[in-house]
Amino acid sequence: VARTPLIAGNWKMNLDHLQAIAFVQKLAWSLKDAKHSFGEVEVAVFPPFTDLRSVQTLIAADKLELVHGAQDVSIHDNGAYTGEISGAFLKALACSYVIIGHSERRQYHHEDDGVVAQKTVAALKHGVTPVVCVGETAEDLEAHGPAAVPVGQLETVLDAISASDADAEIVVAYEPVWAIGSGQAASPEQAQQVCAALRAAIVEKLGEDAAARTRILYGGSVKSGNIAGFMAQKDVDGALVGGASLDAAEFAAIARFR
Ligand code: G3H
Repeated sequence: VARTPLIAGNWKMNLDHLQAIAFVQKLAWSLKDAKHSFGEVEVAVFPPFTDLRSVQTLIAADKLELVHGAQDVSIHDNGAYTGEISGAFLKALACSYVIIGHSERRQYHHEDDGVVAQKTVAALKHGVTPVVCVGETAEDLEAHGPAAVPVGQLETVLDAISASDADAEIVVAYEPVWAIGSGQAASPEQAQQVCAALRAAIVEKLGEDAAARTRILYGGSVKSGNIAGFMAQKDVDGALVGGASLDAAEFAAIARFR
């Protein structure tokens, strides 16, 4: 199965809705001289919730070769949940994707594997593809080695998916917590080792076909200078980029990894 690479930019809590418009215009311009065409590589941006409407409108109006997604979703559909955002609302804003279980949400908002699994099911219910983040801390790495914690995190999600919709499309992002924003990326070989273990877990829980079509991204201090090494790995199908996704020229260069 040929998996379309996905280069995803997680803006985190950066760029307001006006800055977002200027940034996306610049990014689209920077991507124009990409050697590949859209379809061979999918490029996605993940702005804050408050930017989604302006980004959606700009992408549609200018027919930009970009897709957009959100950074989180509620486990609920609607109702008295102050501050929460429903998957139905994301779908209505044409979000293709939603990031779920980012380590910053696990750390600062105490989201555990059970909540991450519930959010994944909620996103699927509303037709928004979840980008499920997993990854070990430096302490986990020391105590359990590289793959045990991320595989365990993913298994909880896969169990929930297999109970609801085993054919569902998900994207998995392997982000070692120690590599996020540290400038110290995993080596391509380390990334491959864990991504292969994650794919094996998908084989076990959802079957060969699901594993063959699921894209697994690496995230953690990705930049234009190291992306090629990750993309050369058999089980790495793209990148989830944080800091470097806020520089349009640099992010476009990451998307031109070939
Ligand atoms: O979601 C993105 C990751 O947290 C990676 O962030 O590229 O700044 O290390 P980073």
